[in-house]
Amino acid sequence: MSNVAVIGSQWGDEGKGKIVDVLSREADVVVRFQGGHNAGHTLVIDGVTYKLHLLPSGIVRPGKLSIIGNGVVVDPAALLKEIETVKAQGVDINSDNLLVAENANLILPVHAFLDQEIEKARDSKGKLGTTGRGIGLCYEDKVARRGIRVCDLAHSDHLRARLENLLGHHNILLKGIGADPLSLDKVYDELMKSAEGLLEYVGVAWKRLDEAHKDGKKILFEGAQGHMLDVDHGTYPFVTSSNTVAAQAAAGSGVGSKMVGYVLGITKAYTTRVGTGPFPTEQENEAGQTLGERGHEFGTTTGRKRRCGWFDAVLVRQAVKTGGIDGIALTKLDVLDGFDELKICVGYELEGRRIDYYPASTVAQANVKPVYETISGWQETTMGARSWADLPAAAVKYVRHIEELIEAPVTLLSTSPDRDDTILMQDPFRAL
Ligand code: IMP
Repeated sequence: MSNVAVIGSQWGDEGKGKIVDVLSREADVVVRFQGGHNAGHTLVIDGVTYKLHLLPSGIVRPGKLSIIGNGVVVDPAALLKEIETVKAQGVDINSDNLLVAENANLILPVHAFLDQEIEKARDSKGKLGTTGRGIGLCYEDKVARRGIRVCDLAHSDHLRARLENLLGHHNILLKGIGADPLSLDKVYDELMKSAEGLLEYVGVAWKRLDEAHKDGKKILFEGAQGHMLDVDHGTYPFVTSSNTVAAQAAAGSGVGSKMVGYVLGITKAYTTRVGTGPFPTEQENEAGQTLGERGHEFGTTTGRKRRCGWFDAVLVRQAVKTGGIDGIALTKLDVLDGFDELKICVGYELEGRRIDYYPASTVAQANVKPVYETISGWQETTMGARSWADLPAAAVKYVRHIEELIEAPVTLLSTSPDRDDTILMQDPFRAL
């Protein structure tokens, strides 16, 4: 029996929420290990829709422990608001089923303000399309060792000193953009007010995980964003500010890397991206429009329209290799129903040469031209299919061809937002 890490293998929004929810039936502990409330997971359970941003998906299931790990950046006001919203939907959230790592870094209002101002000041080519939640600014402070951590909230004098140090840095930036400097008293009071409710959930995450492991409990590591938004392996600088790969599950929650277990890459049957940056298979035409409409491609967190395009097997294969993905969960196959033909990107052309990988250089990434294979579509519906036998032959061929191209098996296939509309080929908890 192993643990499982669920990772997005494209640019996020691959449908991780549903898959995590399906797997959390079996898991005892669900852990978030990177990112913040820039993420958005939609769960549909018995017709009720839950929109989660920071809370691990296990929270909606009784008897599971949900952990927000040290690799996550936590906006206390956003977290408390989310807890209230989910509680109002009838979910019980308390210190027994939610734990926030004491060594996670806190997002302050100044991070979000500067994130938005800096993004506004970027010229159209340089805009990153951030979610404006202060994620990057908070990680910057973490790495620069001036960040405020959850555990600092318990020591008022220490917290004030830490905040003074942090404001010393940010007030220079604020002055530079013509904004008013922040007063220490105001920032301190605001933080204490929004953070008060947080303390009841704070604990030593790595210890709880170690205990759970020793007790033979199953742990599910829940990734946010996706491989191509990884700060090292993605389309830098058009990325988020954390490592989104499975290796981060260990560092971002305080477990050894061997404990991470089976790595399940969540992969949409086509490709989408929110925000700016290169996207070789983007279809700014009728096909892209159709994918967007059928797939309801609007961001959970910002409501932004997602850019849509054909499946890029080169990118997903790269995610499989550099992210250690053992198998994939293919989602939203039903969105492809009704196309006469489908295209799959199987390589790129760059400066007249054929290449089989996505280069790191921003210039090369902008200039690669996808090489497509065209394969037949299907007119039948795959929506709600619960076994291979329910799928049209052309859909099975599409899935099998993807497996070959990305060099990883399809472990799970999702055919609607409903968690029961899932074809499980192999149980990831028992796969290793
Ligand atoms: P940030 O994470 O808010 O700094 O945004 C950086 C980039 O990551 C932008 O292109 C965002 O649109 C993208 N991004 C952040 N979170 C998500 C997500 O959950 N899904 C898809 N894209 C995301």
